[in-house]
Amino acid sequence: MGHSLFNPYEYGTDFSTKKRIDGWDPDHSSCKNPHLLLTGQSGAGKSTLLKDVINYLGNKRNKIVFVLDIHNGLEVENENYIQYTARNTSVGINPFEFDYDVTNGGPEIRADILVQLFKKHFIPKAGPVQENVLRVLFVDSYKYKGIYDNDVKTWPLNEIDDYSQDTSSNTTLPTMTDLEDVFQMVLNMVGGKGGVTYQTHIQMELNYYKTKIQEAKSENVKAKYEKLLKQREEEVADYKKTEDDEDLQDLVWFSKYHIDFSKYSNRNVVTTLNTIGVYIRTFSNMNIFNAKKPKFNKNINRLDLSGFTNAGKPEFALFFFDLFLQRVFGKCKLKGEYKDRPAEQRTRGAKCDVFVVIDESRVVLPTGRDKDNPYHMLNKITAESRKYGLGLILGSQRITHYSDDILANIYTKILLQTDPSDIPTTNKKLKIQNKDLLELTKYNDVGVIGMGGIYKAVHMDLFEQYKKQ
Ligand SMILES: Nc1ncnc2c1ncn2[C@@H]1O[C@H](COP(=O)(O)OP(=O)(O)OP(=O)(O)O)[C@@H](O)[C@H]1O
Ligand SMILES: [Mg+2]
Repeated sequence: MGHSLFNPYEYGTDFSTKKRIDGWDPDHSSCKNPHLLLTGQSGAGKSTLLKDVINYLGNKRNKIVFVLDIHNGLEVENENYIQYTARNTSVGINPFEFDYDVTNGGPEIRADILVQLFKKHFIPKAGPVQENVLRVLFVDSYKYKGIYDNDVKTWPLNEIDDYSQDTSSNTTLPTMTDLEDVFQMVLNMVGGKGGVTYQTHIQMELNYYKTKIQEAKSENVKAKYEKLLKQREEEVADYKKTEDDEDLQDLVWFSKYHIDFSKYSNRNVVTTLNTIGVYIRTFSNMNIFNAKKPKFNKNINRLDLSGFTNAGKPEFALFFFDLFLQRVFGKCKLKGEYKDRPAEQRTRGAKCDVFVVIDESRVVLPTGRDKDNPYHMLNKITAESRKYGLGLILGSQRITHYSDDILANIYTKILLQTDPSDIPTTNKKLKIQNKDLLELTKYNDVGVIGMGGIYKAVHMDLFEQYKKQ
């Protein structure tokens, strides 16, 4: 039993006393939270150390680890390697996935969250009218797939929950191509001055499917629209013969999917649709937001995002990060506070079981006004995730990359070789009393370890091989 109990990550020996110092054990009662922060100049060994820590957590401590690998540099043994690419990726993340939480989750709450994410990453200037149109589009995308907020039976449990086999809802989550459909149908309806006739609308709908079939870049998408076209052509077969346009009301797209068009009858809706349409179309063409989610079936899951971050679409990469962090945090939170979980759900450790690792985290760390925004996912996770058993491990070159909130909320800090010009700021930010400590990181094998407010210079086992200056 409990082979993992006294099995900390060994740092090494104290620089002055030469005695071994206590290692890192995120489950130990003295470790106030499971988070870990790492700094050091380029070449100091951050990525080398992170790989060792990932290996320790996943292979020696049986933790679930998600490595968000921006530069594809954190390969370790026994990992589940998952490659996301900007084009033709076979795995993705679906923004429409929501928490199966009858009290605090569901499609409408997810729609609110999506509006905020869109606003943050793509349309920061969006006002209440735009936000509302976007929100209705998201809710209607769920309805389009038969998922209703007020009817839990329609929520597709098997798609939301990684472990569920329950397919009784008969529904599947919408994708970004579905959002584009809804968007296009609304745009068609309001596009002309004073709207269009039902007759015209039906014609436009069929034409839209035909265009989609022609332009389809993947077999999946082609098949989707071929099926829709066939089905709708049969349903509306006689529409051209109808003299009175009102008679067509029941045949029109909105009726078929029980979508209330009047919600879009706002003066500014066309302008709004045109603004957000650019993004909706881009998303719809990005496989990463339409493809199935991967199987996270090993302790160590390394998500290689290098192709994606290199593709020159930084706002989409950041959107991905937010989505992913939200999903992990949401799932941990849904399981309740760690200490209150039944024993069989605490087999991976006394205090925590899931870790997210981000090297080169500078690109995702909050900057400017976001630095003290409690809703920024990294602020939120460092502040709240401890009680749900979720730890965050961040690497970046300088201490100034981190917000004060993040610095305050991460108990364990490892400072590797620090450029002399960065030492005064680091001492000040972290309130390190002994001003000479960081100078010692000039030795290649020495790091400064912080536990709470206590800092020690340590000859690190991992860097033993670099012992000369
Ligand atoms: N303490 C060390 N002293 C000397 N060389 C080291 C040390 N740690 C790692 N190295 C070697 O230096 C190289 C760079 O290390 P690593 O990639 O871990 O640095 P890094 O801190 O992640 O740098 P960057 O910020 O540029 O990503 C590696 O080839 C590694 O073997
Ligand atoms: Mg590195």
